Amino acid sequence: MKKNILLFLLFFIHYLSNAQKPINNENSYEAKMKRTEWHRDARFGMFIHFGLYAIPARGEWVRHDEKTSNEIYDEAYFKNFNPYLFDAKEWARTAKLAGMKYVVLTAKHHEGFSLWDSKLTDYKITNTPFKRDIIKEYVEALRAENIKVGLYFSLIDWHHPDFPKYNDTHHPMRGNEKYKDEKINWDNYITFMHGQVKELCSNYGKIDIMWFDFSYGEMKSEKWKAKEMVQMVRTLQPSIILNNRLGGDGTTGMEENSLGDFDTPEQTIPEKAVTDNQGRPLPWESCLTLNNSWGYNRYDNNWKSPELVIHTLVNCVSKNGNLLLNVGPDATGKIPQKSIEVLSEVGDWMKKNGKSIYGCGSSTMPRYDWGLFTSNGKSLFAHRIYPSIGGIVLKGYVDKIKRVALLHDGTEIRTESSWWGDSSGKNLYINVNRPSYQTFPMPDKIDTVFEIELK
Ligand code: GLC
Repeated sequence: MKKNILLFLLFFIHYLSNAQKPINNENSYEAKMKRTEWHRDARFGMFIHFGLYAIPARGEWVRHDEKTSNEIYDEAYFKNFNPYLFDAKEWARTAKLAGMKYVVLTAKHHEGFSLWDSKLTDYKITNTPFKRDIIKEYVEALRAENIKVGLYFSLIDWHHPDFPKYNDTHHPMRGNEKYKDEKINWDNYITFMHGQVKELCSNYGKIDIMWFDFSYGEMKSEKWKAKEMVQMVRTLQPSIILNNRLGGDGTTGMEENSLGDFDTPEQTIPEKAVTDNQGRPLPWESCLTLNNSWGYNRYDNNWKSPELVIHTLVNCVSKNGNLLLNVGPDATGKIPQKSIEVLSEVGDWMKKNGKSIYGCGSSTMPRYDWGLFTSNGKSLFAHRIYPSIGGIVLKGYVDKIKRVALLHDGTEIRTESSWWGDSSGKNLYINVNRPSYQTFPMPDKIDTVFEIELK
């Protein structure tokens, strides 16, 4: 009897300590999964790179590339910044029409220019000929369209006097003798940087994502006083989610108990679902440019096709990931026409096939010559992408499904058994070549989706 009581007590203590974990530890796996639930459902977002660099139109690293001094940069761009065609509502509508559920805008990029009315610097939009606070207009426009609000914030600041220059690997003044013996006050920079993040988290209502960029070499985590900063951010914005680029103790910023909620592969799609060292799926989001540049680049016409964007999005979702697709508005504030064209075609496909993207993730199905599967637990979605011979075969599924239909128009698709290659008789066979269904050639040249409802 005594032994039973003891066992019960032990079990109870174990239960209590486990039950409390997610509440106590904001960086536990469980807490991160809970916070990122909406983000993992949303799957598709828009990245916007906008700043003074829209004027030179050679990308947001132009200062780095051309080693431009503050004086020259400011004279040419700060004094002339006037995106008079900027319309936050139009940006929000463009995202909405593309089927994007959230947007992340560069509140401040490495150049150090603030797109909001910061009280901590003069280097801000309200001191340019444009005068308006873009962040304010942006958050209001997104909320009106029911789109989640994300802000990108550069940890790096090439304009601030207390940011290292001579020995820094990226600074426009790297290796410049003028700055060799310069004394900087790092604490001053950190106070300023934290202060700016605090402004963004205090003055614009609910912020859904804070997207920090980036850590390198020694410039990571403790150098940024990241723990204190995140504590402040989470106090002001309890349900905010953070990317992993504050840098953790390891290399990914996604280690157990690290500060990042989601991983951020850049210009690449992971080979398979991203997991932690226990094999648990981790939230991730690939960020991708539509041409080859983040900031507006007048000379870069290497645009990705709508096909490639859709296939990439499906690929991400099939591996439990998101796609954050970038646009770089020009110096007048307009999203480039070519980007709008691609996004609107993507949007047409999303309108009909969004059910196979939102709230979906990986399935247990392998990848096939013809394409791949996404799943939301209730249905499997076969994405028939590549021209291919033969039907869709689901091994052992004959008794497990309710029905099959084309997702874009709801047409029923009858299933049959294949006389070839199925000695078990248990395989579900979708004969995509049946003339009566007109599924060959595929009705959607980009990606024809078959919804397979499960029992
Ligand atoms: C890199 C670049 C930056 C861009 C970002 C997007 O970190 O420094 O210009 O904003 O990638 O992920």
